[in-house]
Amino acid sequence: MNTNFRQQQLLKSTEDYIKTYFDNEGSGHDWWHIYRVRNLALQIAKTEGGDIFRIELAALLHDLDDWKLNGGNKVSKIFEWLSKMEVSEQEIEKVLEIIHEVSYKGAGVPTPASSIEAKIVQDADRLDAIGAIGIARTFAYGGNKNRLIYDPAVQPENHDSFEAYKKTNAPTINHFYEKLLLLKDRMNTQTAKELAEKRHQFMEDFLEQFFNEWEANF
Ligand code: ADP
Ligand code: NI
Repeated sequence: MNTNFRQQQLLKSTEDYIKTYFDNEGSGHDWWHIYRVRNLALQIAKTEGGDIFRIELAALLHDLDDWKLNGGNKVSKIFEWLSKMEVSEQEIEKVLEIIHEVSYKGAGVPTPASSIEAKIVQDADRLDAIGAIGIARTFAYGGNKNRLIYDPAVQPENHDSFEAYKKTNAPTINHFYEKLLLLKDRMNTQTAKELAEKRHQFMEDFLEQFFNEWEANF
């Protein structure tokens, strides 16, 4: 069997597994988030390069071990799945390395990506966190966690550790200042930087309108 055919089969089985796994996810990390990240990553790779197979596989699996969705489960579902699919240990390591570098960990915590594949998947995940989709996902997440939309008494924080970032119960609007508005300047690739501009501006416009309506400034 040629490598390419095996890779295509693995991608298809992984897509089916992830679709089923994230079927009823209500916090904005559903299958369609994975679908968009995969497509964005492949789009970015057209101009930025990288190993397309690893990029697609990492994009499909990137939220499977997420701390927010896994209840602190220490067993890597990604490792389990790829082992079951008879992917070599060496290849699994490469994919895990990409995925470990994707996640945002707080405004003051650097998240360097060491390979072009990690840079691209991180950019794609972050593009899906901003713009119109980003706004929708953020309020979906806040509702899922029973958070207030906004409370003028609670100021945004500049989290300088992942632990502090994880613990927050702040109103959803704060997340724009603690993450979403910072992402434009944390994109790795030129292609993603350009795609981020319009999405960023859309959030700025949304917030301006939001606060005007909040204060009944017509
Ligand atoms: P990453 O994909 O970098 O690990 P997360 O999974 O933490 O980032 O966040 C993905 C999306 O989930 C965010 O962009 C946001 O839409 C939503 N989210 C995460 N944490 C919060 C929060 N505290 N308040 C509102 N939305 C959140
Ligand atoms: Ni994600």
